[in-house]
Amino acid sequence: MTANRSPRLGERVVAPFGRRRCEIKRNLPSGGYRIFSALDPAGPVPAAGQFYMLATDSGWGGDQGRPYLARAFSVADAAPEDGGVRLDFLVQAVGPGTSRLAALEPGEGLWVHGPLGRPFSAPRDVSEGAAGAILVGGGIGVAPLALWRRQLLAAGTPARVLLGFRDRENSGGLDLFDCSEIRLASEDGHSGHRGFVTDLLAVLLEGDDTGSAAVYACGPPAMLEAVRGMCAEQGVACELAMETPMACGFGACFGCAVPLADGGYLRLCVDGPVVRGDQLETALVPGSGH
Ligand SMILES: Cc1cc2nc3c(=O)[nH]c(=O)nc-3n(C[C@H](O)[C@H](O)[C@H](O)COP(=O)(O)OP(=O)(O)OC[C@H]3O[C@@H](n4cnc5c(N)ncnc54)[C@H](O)[C@@H]3O)c2cc1C
Ligand code: FES
Repeated sequence: MTANRSPRLGERVVAPFGRRRCEIKRNLPSGGYRIFSALDPAGPVPAAGQFYMLATDSGWGGDQGRPYLARAFSVADAAPEDGGVRLDFLVQAVGPGTSRLAALEPGEGLWVHGPLGRPFSAPRDVSEGAAGAILVGGGIGVAPLALWRRQLLAAGTPARVLLGFRDRENSGGLDLFDCSEIRLASEDGHSGHRGFVTDLLAVLLEGDDTGSAAVYACGPPAMLEAVRGMCAEQGVACELAMETPMACGFGACFGCAVPLADGGYLRLCVDGPVVRGDQLETALVPGSGH
């Protein structure tokens, strides 16, 4: 595919070989998180749900050499621009790698390898009768849903968005959605419904039109497991964008193995990170999530 063609819904975009140096164009606060943008000079437009392995070209390896390995990041938005494709990432600083990425300044260099992994599928490919989508995000897991919403709307597919956060500090990324039709939940009640985002999903799943939507979720393992269970109970198809620690990101180390309901494992970096809910016995995978 050409560098600036947008992928069809559900199309897996293949990464060019090796990593590329991108220039940081901006880095702005977004609630308790930050959004940084890099101009990818030679990469394709990614599909929503795919991820990149990221490392800065300086200051990567502080005390005791950490973070050392590149870090996995969902692409939160992407668009062709003069000189390449703009890639937006939403970051929550939780350790040395994410803290260094959160501190990137415009003009600095970022190494990217990607887009990697399996993206979200079009609603009709998740469930035959699904004409629309329900997007459920929790915490930093809202990142891939912003690009997914934009790609769904560009294809004329209706999408309802439910986002939940723990508290003000652990929230952000709303700037990426550029719409007022998001339904919010927060555990501390600072915005929207006081409680879990899954409370909002429960209301939608009780509606008459449930069978006409596929559910897409990204967030902490407990949220994903709740979404998986609720959808299984209501007979609604869902896809979950999962996280495990990833050392390589392209299938070589087997560090990202996730057990499947029918036995066996998948490597989340190549067979995921987007996984169908009915493939899993549980989304509570040891080592997954923040
Ligand atoms: C496919 C994928 C997409 C991701 N997208 C984003 C994103 O858009 N924005 C974002 O801020 N983060 C994202 N992450 C998580 C991010 O990769 C980790 O937070 C990061 O690797 C932590 O590195 P660190 O050096 O800052 O912290 P470390 O010191 O490596 O770890 C800090 C804490 O986070 C835990 N941790 C480390 N790596 C991961 C991981 N991969 N998943 C879950 N917990 C981890 C550790 O157990 C520890 O408790 C994603 C992870 C994956 C696998
Ligand atoms: S991260 Fe190495 S195989 Fe998946």
